[in-house]
Amino acid sequence: MFSIYAIELENIWKVFPGNVQANCDITLRIGEGEVHGLLGENGAGKTTLMNVLYGLLSRTSGTVKIRGKEVNFKSPQDAIRLGIGMVHQHFKLIPIMTVTENVVLGAEPLYANLTANLKYWRPSINPALPTNFRSAEKKILRIAEENGLQIDPYAKIQDLSVGLQQRVELIKILYRDADILILDEPTAVLTPQEVDELFETLETFRKEGKTIILITHKLREPMTICDRITVLRRGELVGTVKRVDTSREQLAEMMVGRPVVFRVAKTPAKPTDTVLSVENLHVQDDRGLPAVRDISFEVKRGEILGLAGVHGNGQDELVEAIWGLRKVHHGEIYIEGERVTKYRPRKMRATGVGYIPQDRQKQGLILDFTTKENLILGGQHEPPFATGPRGFLLNALDITNYSNILVKDFDIRLRDIDEPISTLSGGNQQKVVAARAIGPNPKLLLASHPTRGLDVGATEYIHNVLIRMRDQGVAIFLISADLDEIRNVSDRIAVIFKGELVAIRTPEETDERELGLLMAGEQRAIPSEELTQ
Ligand SMILES: Nc1ncnc2c1ncn2[C@@H]1O[C@H](COP(=O)(O)OP(=O)(O)OP(=O)(O)O)[C@@H](O)[C@H]1O
Ligand SMILES: [Mg+2]
Repeated sequence: MFSIYAIELENIWKVFPGNVQANCDITLRIGEGEVHGLLGENGAGKTTLMNVLYGLLSRTSGTVKIRGKEVNFKSPQDAIRLGIGMVHQHFKLIPIMTVTENVVLGAEPLYANLTANLKYWRPSINPALPTNFRSAEKKILRIAEENGLQIDPYAKIQDLSVGLQQRVELIKILYRDADILILDEPTAVLTPQEVDELFETLETFRKEGKTIILITHKLREPMTICDRITVLRRGELVGTVKRVDTSREQLAEMMVGRPVVFRVAKTPAKPTDTVLSVENLHVQDDRGLPAVRDISFEVKRGEILGLAGVHGNGQDELVEAIWGLRKVHHGEIYIEGERVTKYRPRKMRATGVGYIPQDRQKQGLILDFTTKENLILGGQHEPPFATGPRGFLLNALDITNYSNILVKDFDIRLRDIDEPISTLSGGNQQKVVAARAIGPNPKLLLASHPTRGLDVGATEYIHNVLIRMRDQGVAIFLISADLDEIRNVSDRIAVIFKGELVAIRTPEETDERELGLLMAGEQRAIPSEELTQ
């Protein structure tokens, strides 16, 4: 079908220590200029296979050919030399450095030894610096212009939204002249608008004849852009299909091995007493600017309130303030009438609040700790885990039992709960974060992007858990960039724009179009004093 294959993977095996067979005899050929989707459940072996191709992991056996020539990469540097670039599932940028610094880092030998000094560089202030840095900047701006990846080359990574950080990752590989691009779940962290922008960029790449491998859990995406799609399950190849011959339902079934329902079954909510009450809340962002402006709302027992909004409109600051991670500037927060405005996370936990943070690697997990330790993180001071007069001793047996139950309930795929959590696949790490928040049976659950990076089966599971918790009388505040999720799961939907609540709707009263307009600030539905009624 293709005259030249850009990539040929033949009979690839990757076995991790402990006989974890992440890739079993996988053969996959990708044509020059093809956009190829790679799908599979959490832990199916997608990232591993791509890391093998990229030279980050050595394979146990098998052959890799690039444009017909067999290769044995010792490191990603070898892959980069042949024009292969990868955007990783978890970004690899240095937060305190600027965009330009991150892009040139490692790409230009001259800069490699200057790494230590890079953070003090400001080409505009210090014209004595090598002129190459200026040309690097020019090249970045040119790449940005040509590919619709607008960016400020002076901005520090830590000040950029995840969507913009991803642009930097893309620019970084284009800067190295890659024409084979591996994108590992690039859309998991993006808002619907950012996804559209990314797909426009990918179309540009396609026109330029670049070869793209796209890993994603959102089945709609390969159905819009890929030529062919390959599905892996538990390390094995299930099959490769042409997009024109397949459907979302078939792909889901190939992934999970059973039919998947895309709609969540639920009965109408029966909300009762108020659990969370937020009154005239004002919160500032990291730069001290207003991020949440005069927000008031309530979440009752037995209901799920969804918060929709374009990333960066104050939803992160709002949920962090409720959880006690961020200072409340003005206003009050109550839980069942108890004033908790100044409580820190540990006290919130003790009050019966569970929190699923949005960034699992930065806020959610300690990667060097074991899965078991991560599963009880935050609860290690309290019974039943802590024993002894001052709660110093940990009750090992209880912890092990408890962890095993969560691993089973949430279908966390791992070899051993006593191994570092970093050996789990991205989606399985996310399941740990969700299990930890839900495990202690909170009365209020703050769920921030709870299914980010989860496969269709696991997403379905989490949605069902949320609805079951609701039916048992838990109050749930769900923050998500995924409008389908918000509409399917929530009983009421609040929309945030520029730090203000602009509307509250039931899913029946509204549709995607109206929510989109509200999220874009093009419509203001209700005056704020009516929102709490
Ligand atoms: N460094 C490692 N050591 C041991 N096992 C590992 C290591 N990295 C990955 N694994 C295991 O290999 C298997 C495949 O993991 P991989 O990260 O490739 O999955 P994935 O398909 O990318 O999943 P996800 O969608 O969740 O990102 C999993 O069982 C995982 O636990
Ligand atoms: Mg992965």
